Amino acid sequence: MKRLEKKTAIVTGAGRGLGKGIAIELALEGANVVVADLEIAEDTVAEITAQGGSAVACRVNVSRQEEVQALVAFAIETYGTLDIMVNNAGINRDGMLHKMSAENWDTVIAVDLTGTFYGTQEAIKYMREKQSGRIINISSGSWLGNIGQANYAAAKAGVVGLTKTAARENARKGITCNVICPGFIETDMTVKLKEVNGGAAWDSMVSRVPMGYAGKPSDVGKLVAFLASDDAAYITSEVINCGGGMIV
Ligand code: NAI
Repeated sequence: MKRLEKKTAIVTGAGRGLGKGIAIELALEGANVVVADLEIAEDTVAEITAQGGSAVACRVNVSRQEEVQALVAFAIETYGTLDIMVNNAGINRDGMLHKMSAENWDTVIAVDLTGTFYGTQEAIKYMREKQSGRIINISSGSWLGNIGQANYAAAKAGVVGLTKTAARENARKGITCNVICPGFIETDMTVKLKEVNGGAAWDSMVSRVPMGYAGKPSDVGKLVAFLASDDAAYITSEVINCGGGMIV
């Protein structure tokens, strides 16, 4: 029997990149996956079903509370339960703090932090009734502070505080809540650096990874699958880095 058989997971931002890799790994472990994204996520669903897994797509803008509520309701209606909530959807709008527009601040906070709050809260309401569940929130090594990312760092630090609080409030309800901080993973969010300064920006990021190469979405997906499984039952309120040694 696979580790996540009979479990249902929601993964936000799963149309591509890390979210897609996470959704695929969860499905490989036997979970039914609701692939949630702002855009059409049929590619992810097709890949999962081609491997013999079960997945459905659902459109959501995580910065809208009513849409996140509808997403959780949709998962429960479709698969009869919700066991694993992965709040992965995120964006960046980088720029130095002294030049950052209030709009770029608000937009990143709305998606990366408030979206994670909506997803965590809505899933936990249901999981408290059920007395079991897994919340896995995707932050970033940037939560410790990073030049050009005041908005993103603040949002990702907020995700840590939110998740650790959720972990403590729900530790006796059979729910674990953990944070993953990916390091430098090759996705649409990062691959654009290959176009900056003839690829020098990409090379500079890779040079900061002790292992010497960018991670793959599946590297993070395998960690999510472990945290979602019974094997991780005694792990809660943790911040776990997945970055080839990049985050210290
Ligand atoms: P990406 O840009 O490749 O994919 C993000 C996905 O989220 C897209 O499918 C997009 O449509 C979706 N999305 C964006 N806004 C949304 C919204 N309001 N509602 C629903 N879906 C929305 O990004 P990537 O690299 O896959 O990042 C995923 C997560 O991992 C983000 O939270 C990011 O901050 C985090 N992360 C990524 C790292 C990397 O090296 N790629 C490093 C550290 C953290």
